[in-house]
Amino acid sequence: MDKPRVLVTRAIFPQVIANLAQHFEVTSNQADELWSPPQLIEQLQGKQGVFTTGSERIDAALLAACPELRICANMAVGYNNFDLEAMTAAGVLGTNAPDVLTETTADFAFALLLATARRISESEHFLRAGQWSRWSYDLFAGAEVHGSTLGILGMGRIGQAIARRGAHGFGMKVIYHNRSPLDEATQQRCAARYVSLQGLLREADHLVLVLPYSGASHHIIGAAELAQMKPTATLVNIARGGIVDDAALAAALQNRIIAAAGLDVFEGEPKVHPDLLRVPNVVLTPHIGSATLATRQAMAQLAVDNLVGFLVHGKPVTPLNEVRAVPDK
Ligand code: DGY
Repeated sequence: MDKPRVLVTRAIFPQVIANLAQHFEVTSNQADELWSPPQLIEQLQGKQGVFTTGSERIDAALLAACPELRICANMAVGYNNFDLEAMTAAGVLGTNAPDVLTETTADFAFALLLATARRISESEHFLRAGQWSRWSYDLFAGAEVHGSTLGILGMGRIGQAIARRGAHGFGMKVIYHNRSPLDEATQQRCAARYVSLQGLLREADHLVLVLPYSGASHHIIGAAELAQMKPTATLVNIARGGIVDDAALAAALQNRIIAAAGLDVFEGEPKVHPDLLRVPNVVLTPHIGSATLATRQAMAQLAVDNLVGFLVHGKPVTPLNEVRAVPDK
């Protein structure tokens, strides 16, 4: 029997290609070309599976043009690049890569929070520019992290891992807002208290965003929300661009409505709003929240396991929707 055909949309660890090749006829994009939607459709012709990285849009138009496609395996926990409803209607399975990146991403949230609160980037630029001539009592004085109030918007697995670090590592008072409160035992493990969104905005010294992007979370933090935060507060976004209104945030930073921000994700990335590039009190990183080699390998392997699980054994590891297993389709 012919092996199923699988497309890998971006450059990836050679071991991943080798693992896939044990089960599939693999077409890979090791040259790492950036394909337009029509080019992606062209590449997908005759493929039953696709390994995506989180930036390829899988929607009704693509599905209609790729009738042989059966599974899209995202090497990301977020899957806002998938139109899951259209995929289910087309009988195409979506999978993501949860759990394996939780602790690494929570570490990064803290790295960004600390860098933002303690003005690490701003002070390094100052030093590299040769502007450091003397010690001063208030040189780059930032905000306290230990003992402060950590606010978390979105209390899934990563939010909880951030809460544990804040409460148990930094002695922070942890408050959170989520679609619904956590069960009592989980809340206790995180030493976290549920509050309204307004309460979160008003009380947090450091607010970390970890919620999924959707129509409902689009610009959930805009000018009105920033105005409710403390003028000394910091905001950290490790979730997705579009959750924050970047233009409103740049204005709030410029006008010191809040003290500082740390951003790993941006509206329309890899483009970054030009006003954010101009303000000094923001730490900017290029969507590297899960970027350690070990974690990226684990995420990629989970996508491989999903492709093999579904296309070979009829049983994916981390499915996002329900479709009929391949042999019956
Ligand atoms: C995720 O897993 O959703 C990350 O943002 C990918 O880099």
